Amino acid sequence: MNFTNKLFSLLGFAEPVTLKRFTGKNELPTRALLLSINEHLSRDIEQAITKLNVKVTKQSEGLAAKSIDALIIDASHYTDECCYQKLYLNVQNSIKLLTNNARILLIATACSEKQNVEENTFTQALIGFTKSLAKEVGRKGSTANMVLIANGNKSNNIELNASSTAPLSSSVKFFLSPKSAFVSGQILTINTQNKMTTMLTDSTRQKVALVTGAAQGIGEAIAKKLADDGYKVIGVDIEPMKEKLIATMAALQGEAFTLDVSSKEAGQQLAALANKHNGFDLVVHNAGITRDKTLAKMPVHFWQQTIAINLLSVITINKVLLSHNAINKGGSIVCLSSMNGIAGQGGQTNYACSKAGIIGYVNSMADELITKSITINAVAPGFIETTMTEQIPFFTREMGRRMNALGQGGLPIDVAETIAFLGNNASYAISGQTIRVCGLNIIGT
Ligand code: NAI
Repeated sequence: MNFTNKLFSLLGFAEPVTLKRFTGKNELPTRALLLSINEHLSRDIEQAITKLNVKVTKQSEGLAAKSIDALIIDASHYTDECCYQKLYLNVQNSIKLLTNNARILLIATACSEKQNVEENTFTQALIGFTKSLAKEVGRKGSTANMVLIANGNKSNNIELNASSTAPLSSSVKFFLSPKSAFVSGQILTINTQNKMTTMLTDSTRQKVALVTGAAQGIGEAIAKKLADDGYKVIGVDIEPMKEKLIATMAALQGEAFTLDVSSKEAGQQLAALANKHNGFDLVVHNAGITRDKTLAKMPVHFWQQTIAINLLSVITINKVLLSHNAINKGGSIVCLSSMNGIAGQGGQTNYACSKAGIIGYVNSMADELITKSITINAVAPGFIETTMTEQIPFFTREMGRRMNALGQGGLPIDVAETIAFLGNNASYAISGQTIRVCGLNIIGT
């Protein structure tokens, strides 16, 4: 145990478990248990999981293994109040078998006007259950998340058509894999009525991704991840970062483009760039700044710069890109929000205002963009190990790292993996949402 861990163990913080991250090989769990809170197992959930080639044992088959590395819970069939008791009993029996770095995933139907009060109440109850479970298993490096399926059906039984099992399958895969190592306590809704299909994208063409703020930190990790996934990446950053940006992009066979995203001509310049590349398939608005001061002492330029770069530039650039049809059908926009935009932070009224604005923006743009076959989502990182967080004074930094269910800071790759998941064609049923990559921070909802 190093000195810092020793010190914090005296304060009651357990030494964190090393998180298992994606290496290209260690993809999915090998001993998963699939259980239903009722006797009935949804055929669609089973099919979505079968597609993944995960070795799954059904509860009814009896479990030979002494331990499991994933627990998938079908909570989609609410019948009556006995479901609460069954949830407790079934999960309690299985939870003891979980290894370190295990995955728990609940799948249920989203609340809707079409469901009755009892069904909607149960769905909301499951959210509290999932988040609490995530806080309990986090000290073992394990996560718990939930996928809600909104399909507009009257019945609360999940009935997907063949094309709708793809987004469920893809989301299950993400949450079961080490790619979601720092994502916990998250509730993701899949809207199976989104009519977009993967067919809209020509799979023979190399996809093009635009990443702003790509010279360092999280932006650099996003650019690298997308290049690994086969995208041609165009990285944008400001003039003072030009050398670093060029070096980063050269290593990825990408393209460097210096630009201040808050400048008046930014949208037009990026639209011209998109035109040269036959449109963007993924736009990641990552560029961001902090200019911290309590509101009473905050100079006006701190306020203006932060709002302009973190929020208004995103809205303006998207407006111009969309008016030029510069984002291809089947494409995605992902914006960087922040946990502090959800929970608030003293000294960051400007930053939290801009990052909370992003959450409202993606949520209200989703319906309009679905008509253009484009998704828009946000990712809200918590404490991520970057040069930005290295600057934080020792004690505040160490507390920031540990104040989440996993007891440690995340890595830029954790944010990048989540963005790559949202940008993937198979995620077409996910739009208007914000996923936190924060290890389930203690603060915020
Ligand atoms: P960083 O400061 O290391 O990188 C940000 C990049 O954006 C830099 O390369 C910078 O030059 C560029 N940039 C700044 N203003 C720009 C402008 N006007 N035009 C073009 N590029 C510009 O920051 P980090 O940590 O990598 O953060 C990336 C994003 O993630 C930001 O939006 C940040 O708010 C968000 N975030 C980061 C967290 C963390 O723990 N590091 C936590 C929550 C959110």
